[in-house]
Amino acid sequence: MRLKDCHNFQDFRRMAKKRLPGPIFNYIDGGADDEVTYRRNTEAFDSVDLVPNVLRGITDVDMSVTVMGQKLSMPVYCSPTALQRLFHHDGERAVAGAAAKYGTMFGVSSLGTVSLEEARRLSPGPQVYQFYFHKDRGLNREMMARAKSAGVDVMMLTVDSITGGNRERDKRTGFSIPFRLNLAGITQFALKPAWAINYFTHEPFKLPQLDSHVDMGGGTMSISKYFTEMLDPALSWADVEEMVGEWGGQFCLKGVMSVEDARRAIDIGCTGLVLSNHGGRQLDGSRTGFEQLGTIVDAVGDRIDVMMDGGVQRGTHVLKALSMGAKAVGLGRYYLFPLAAAGRQGVERALDNMRIEIERGMKLMGVSRLSELSRSNLFIR
Ligand code: LAC
Repeated sequence: MRLKDCHNFQDFRRMAKKRLPGPIFNYIDGGADDEVTYRRNTEAFDSVDLVPNVLRGITDVDMSVTVMGQKLSMPVYCSPTALQRLFHHDGERAVAGAAAKYGTMFGVSSLGTVSLEEARRLSPGPQVYQFYFHKDRGLNREMMARAKSAGVDVMMLTVDSITGGNRERDKRTGFSIPFRLNLAGITQFALKPAWAINYFTHEPFKLPQLDSHVDMGGGTMSISKYFTEMLDPALSWADVEEMVGEWGGQFCLKGVMSVEDARRAIDIGCTGLVLSNHGGRQLDGSRTGFEQLGTIVDAVGDRIDVMMDGGVQRGTHVLKALSMGAKAVGLGRYYLFPLAAAGRQGVERALDNMRIEIERGMKLMGVSRLSELSRSNLFIR
């Protein structure tokens, strides 16, 4: 299977599956518990139909949006995700480069494998820093100061992960970081030699955002254990209010779902919200970002930028979310499988497919600007 054969999300997913060791593929692909929410994230888009307008004299389409003060050439951005150099040796570098080429925003995670400073140098485009709030307050302060001096544009605090989701695929495969040459690792080396050669011949796995404070002690740790042991479940609205003040710029909460929380986010000075269930990887059975979008936009959409992520695989999914009132839409697995499949070229191809699908969709919907989309373009079954 080659890159030119990848026309959609499922094609990239298949190509990534062929290339990646099973535990790594399943880490990306999997969700929590029965993966109900994971599946619903994408299925939810099917419960709403697009209602196009025709004969609108569409010649050029402009798909740019402004969100949290950032101008994006397209209404999707690469959400911050963890451990990218485990998926492809270029990791965050590939994603930052591809995002810059397509004029969109990308994120670097607290669990990123390239430093936020390096990522900042690689892309002139808007950069989000995905923040995990650790029990170690000194680490939190340091991460915030580093992000500030590096010139990160948007602080994005993930609030849906104060403890680890029950990811049973990871339990079965024993997925942990860093990926080591233990018995299971050696088996993978034999099964996926191309991946293994790349992994072991490039710079060793690191977590540059956390290195100074987190000592892995030469051991390994599951992601669930990291969340549960390192992150602070006592994180409160008061703590976040302090962070917002300290940051003094665009500040977004990722993982807010209720109207009550959306209002509180505004009260403490947040400028953005991402409705998200963490790709179905945390609280299984929770509502999807898309399903909750209309309610949140109606309640607070005129006072804060509302975004969503989860399950987005098509340009039409994006158009549905924007018609519902989202300002922009986050992509996760959508670019991670292409990254694993083919590095930067893969991510670029995936973003290009998305751009083409959105452009085609806009023409077929009869809009030349995304701001022309509204609820009247949706039929909710
Ligand atoms: C995950 C985290 C690390 O979902 O974002 O695995």
